[in-house]
Amino acid sequence: MFPITRPRRLRQHPQLRRMVRENVLTASDLIYPLFAVPGESVAKEVTSMPGVYQLSVDKIVDEAKEVYDLGIPGIILFGIPEDKDKDATGAWHDCGIVQKAATAVKAAVPDLIVVADTCLCEYTDHGHCGYLEVGDLTGKVLNDPTLELLKKTAVSQAKAGADIIAPSGMMDGFVTAIRAGLDEAGFTDTPILSYAAKYASAYYGPFRDAAESSPQFGDRRTYQMDPGNAKEALKEVELDIAEGADMLMVKPALSYMDIIWRVKEITNLPVAAYNVSGEYSMVKAAALNNWIDEKKVVLETLTSFKRAGADLILTYHAKDAVRWLAD
Ligand code: PBG
Ligand code: ZN
Repeated sequence: MFPITRPRRLRQHPQLRRMVRENVLTASDLIYPLFAVPGESVAKEVTSMPGVYQLSVDKIVDEAKEVYDLGIPGIILFGIPEDKDKDATGAWHDCGIVQKAATAVKAAVPDLIVVADTCLCEYTDHGHCGYLEVGDLTGKVLNDPTLELLKKTAVSQAKAGADIIAPSGMMDGFVTAIRAGLDEAGFTDTPILSYAAKYASAYYGPFRDAAESSPQFGDRRTYQMDPGNAKEALKEVELDIAEGADMLMVKPALSYMDIIWRVKEITNLPVAAYNVSGEYSMVKAAALNNWIDEKKVVLETLTSFKRAGADLILTYHAKDAVRWLAD
């Protein structure tokens, strides 16, 4: 009579549900993004990202201590330089803003892992992720000359103390170039977290406010991936593995959970998911209107990334999530 197998049996008590839960979010899964700006005592909230600030290096250090005390293992640093130019000088200069922030954080909190985002868009005057032909107004980045700058940037970040190099510009061969640069400079033990499958996404909008990195003309569709493609993500991932990547990232996360899953299936490397700015801002906006329960929505979303196969989650919700996990 009636069903013999009753899945509801295992849902009758919170402890029972806990016992059979397949995926559990913890602080160890999270990386918190921070935006470094020149100056002192600067904490400027990003209008489109409530709760996220552009911070001067002294404030980045305070923040790093807080993140570490919460049990979050790492941060990822982005920089907004004093000046932008065609050569992205602020990206690879030893006195660049990310270099300064990395050094200061490692001095104050040596056990916090510092990931450096390695790209040029915050540092070029046109806002693209690499070199352009003189007079180009389309934004068709020149691949191989850009690799040289990325290599220089990565080495300078490692010298400044960055523990992990995370190239995000979707240039062909960037892992090979950066690996060679790091090895030649003696940083053979510095891992590369490659933004392997990064899509040309409208969800980056608020980040570009935060990082002041909107392209001044054109868009990023000649280097970032087309949202319609999934197999291409696997091709990108295979290339990055062959080039020596130590970890792989899928970005954005929410509307690309299928890609996280497919990438996880074809690799034994750790897979990271970037819960990007637009995903954060949508939740914040709805929460501020009391249209959703922010805590529940955030924890559900982050747990879903784990279920999809993410080993690491880069998220602006990291600090809140850890506090809520402890509630
Ligand atoms: C640029 C970069 C982007 C993000 C991180 N590094 C996006 C872009 O402007 O193309 C997006 C992060 C976010 O939206 O939170 N290389
Ligand atoms: Zn970029």
